[in-house]
Amino acid sequence: MALYGGVDMMDDTRVLALRDGVCVPVREIRAGDAAALQRLVARSSDRSVELRFFGPLKRLSDKQARRFAEVDGRDRFALVALDPEDPGEVVGVVRYEREPGTDAAEYAALVEDRFQDRGLGIGLTRHLIEAARANGLERLYALVMRENAGMLHLLRSLDLPERKRWEDGAEHVEIDLRPSTAA
Ligand SMILES: CC(C)(COP(=O)(O)OP(=O)(O)OC[C@H]1O[C@@H](n2cnc3c(N)ncnc32)[C@H](O)[C@@H]1OP(=O)(O)O)[C@@H](O)C(=O)NCCC(=O)NCCS
Repeated sequence: MALYGGVDMMDDTRVLALRDGVCVPVREIRAGDAAALQRLVARSSDRSVELRFFGPLKRLSDKQARRFAEVDGRDRFALVALDPEDPGEVVGVVRYEREPGTDAAEYAALVEDRFQDRGLGIGLTRHLIEAARANGLERLYALVMRENAGMLHLLRSLDLPERKRWEDGAEHVEIDLRPSTAA
């Protein structure tokens, strides 16, 4: 399973340094992470869950958790950040899912509240973008609630061409992953 430019990283775990210097292990998601994803959602605030899932969610069902954790590494891809104090727990996850037959994929992220606004979401997203490009994607899009300042700010901070439109009560934000053609 290729993560960075075709290098086989399947069993590798990288370290991402947060703004406050805390180092967080990061790796591709594995099928065995399903229960840890359920615990991440259970530990997350109602607000974070609502922003991620567009509504309340008592718990991530076994079926949803399995679907999120089982990826093919190409059209469906996700990275998890592990709790540096307890590597059995997932504290952040970013994912993309390709629209079948296109070069576009939907992107989504969830960072545990106590790890938010420390640089984890954007760090994970930058790594996800490297993988998306290596897997032939040219566009990522996210559906973002208008009041989700954190996500809107993160997407802008990527410094990639961005197109926004209002769709079904949410901002549809599309990020262009192609190398800049600007001189
Ligand atoms: C949105 C989310 C993934 C962002 O991850 P994060 O780790 O908190 O964000 P980062 O610390 O990487 O911040 C990225 C940028 O956004 C800014 N930011 C973060 N939270 C912010 C907030 N609430 N308001 C304004 N700006 C914010 C950061 O200052 C940083 O800006 P910079 O690049 O100019 O320094 C995370 O907050 C989260 O999981 N929220 C709940 C679920 C959600 O909204 N998911 C997205 C659904 S599409």
